[in-house]
Amino acid sequence: MRIQFARATAQSVAQIKEIGESVAYRSTGDFSQGFLFNPMTFEQYRHRLERTNHTYITLADSQLVGYIIGYSESELASLRKSGSLSHKSDILTAINGLGMKNFIFIDQLAVKPGYQRKRYGTYLLRQYTRMARKKFKHAFCDIGHAPVRNEASVKFVLKHGWSLCCEVDNQDKTYGVYSRELRVGNDTVTDQRMTACHTP
Ligand SMILES: CC(C)(COP(=O)(O)OP(=O)(O)OC[C@H]1O[C@@H](n2cnc3c(N)ncnc32)[C@H](O)[C@@H]1OP(=O)(O)O)[C@@H](O)C(=O)NCCC(=O)NCCS
Repeated sequence: MRIQFARATAQSVAQIKEIGESVAYRSTGDFSQGFLFNPMTFEQYRHRLERTNHTYITLADSQLVGYIIGYSESELASLRKSGSLSHKSDILTAINGLGMKNFIFIDQLAVKPGYQRKRYGTYLLRQYTRMARKKFKHAFCDIGHAPVRNEASVKFVLKHGWSLCCEVDNQDKTYGVYSRELRVGNDTVTDQRMTACHTP
């Protein structure tokens, strides 16, 4: 199987939206594989991809099986100004309050059901980290803690060297804000299947 890491393009939007929707939080269901509290519509994903530069995908035999959407501080500022991140405003205010400079914020990370727990997420996050550390010093992300704790995702990021900074109540949910120093650790891709990749 040929595994690739690449920057998302306009052609990626429909498949990203499909994955986002397939892992969306539903009040009843199996949460053991993780979930997204805030999947977006096609238009919202398209809008983000058009205005930002830090969305990357993983392809397995040319099929999109995972993505990470991230924003630089200037992209965050412009998205906030346009109102598109109002549902995360308390989280972003908390991150600003930590006083870190030169960071990337990971808004969404997801692997397609059927491909989860097969290290595609690990491959994607490691490649993303190696890309991001060239420009940024730190990374932040938020993970749902309540009403349901996204335990799969918490375990996933802890395993990759992230740590919990604080908990934030945002609208009717509680999120953990996690961070990681990007230039510590080598994040090499050790899985033999995944070494023949295309880096950006
Ligand atoms: C969370 C997610 C990105 C992980 O990607 P993945 O490809 O399934 O994870 P990997 O196979 O690379 O797993 C690496 C490690 O993460 C942890 N992990 C991943 N999925 C887990 C799960 N369902 N339960 C417990 N730990 C899990 C484990 O420590 C695992 O190592 P191990 O298999 O040796 O125990 C993926 O399951 C997903 O997209 N879930 C739905 C959406 C989501 O929760 N996104 C994050 C929102 S913040």
